[in-house]
Amino acid sequence: MRQTLERIWPHVKRWWKWWIDTDNRWLSVPCTIAALLVLLVLVKSVQGIAYNFTRECKIYKLGYPIEEARVLAATLSDAQADTLIAHQEHDTIAIPVIQARYFIADNFDRYLAYHKKDTTGAPLDVIVSFVNVGYDQDRLEVAAPCDTSKGHLMLVNGRHYLDENYKPDSLATFSMDYCYENQKAQPIVVDAFMALQQACKKQTDAQLMVNSAYRSYQQQIGTYKRNPKGYAAQAGSSEHQTGFAIDVTSRQHPMRWPFDKSEEGVWMREHCHEYGFILRYPERQSRIFGFAYEPWHLRYVGKEVAKRIHDEDITFDEYYAYYIEGPHAKPLSR
Ligand code: DAL
Ligand code: ZN
Repeated sequence: MRQTLERIWPHVKRWWKWWIDTDNRWLSVPCTIAALLVLLVLVKSVQGIAYNFTRECKIYKLGYPIEEARVLAATLSDAQADTLIAHQEHDTIAIPVIQARYFIADNFDRYLAYHKKDTTGAPLDVIVSFVNVGYDQDRLEVAAPCDTSKGHLMLVNGRHYLDENYKPDSLATFSMDYCYENQKAQPIVVDAFMALQQACKKQTDAQLMVNSAYRSYQQQIGTYKRNPKGYAAQAGSSEHQTGFAIDVTSRQHPMRWPFDKSEEGVWMREHCHEYGFILRYPERQSRIFGFAYEPWHLRYVGKEVAKRIHDEDITFDEYYAYYIEGPHAKPLSR
């Protein structure tokens, strides 16, 4: 800027000198004003013509109010705005979707596409969740190896799988006060469960017990065969293979369903995040993604993440999409 001014300044001085020296300068006043006005009109016309080519204007011409067109043009990438323009119609969810709590800009086109083909009248937050966790895409096409480098925050599901050789680096055994038979899990999970069990005992007098914890790929093949459809993941898709998942009921209510309604079952659901656990398959997940509700299956994710998942009432899949892979990724902590 300074260099530009320095370059222009001699020309300004020369012009000023001519203006002062010239005999008929008063005649040139109206000419100068007229010239400036013509210039202004020209600039405005060029701006007007150029505006017609902007994405904001093209979106506006689709029927969006100008404020919405402005927001869309400012929020979307050029490619996404072009997709919106190519639709050639006013998409009623375009604005609500970018204002949705878990909006991820990269998924914009997929939200619109999913909304168009959805026949169930899914609410906007469900559309956003569905797309964020990849349920709008063909499972087999998008399935990819689980990123085990995420440690206690690795995501394992039908779209993020473990191979048959994956085994946790270390496993610790629960003592018999905490499980019925030889059960192992990641050492941090064993410690966290002991704290959870002791707190629960103080509050409810009941004793939480681990029914099942680490399961190898081979063991999961058997579990999958033995369980009713929906209650066991296929081998490779079970987070029991990570050593971070445990199935819990209590000595007082060893069966899964009475446990669900028991005082200790309710207490566990409400307080497990204080010990770093989440209910991995909550009712919300069942409602949105159609999986079975499993009030006994806890997943260790660490206290900070567990609290956020609990407070925001989201599933781990949604958390992972938004806070680990998505635009709000933060350094990991336990
Ligand atoms: N019960 C859960 C889905 C599993 O088998 O991993
Ligand atoms: Zn389980």
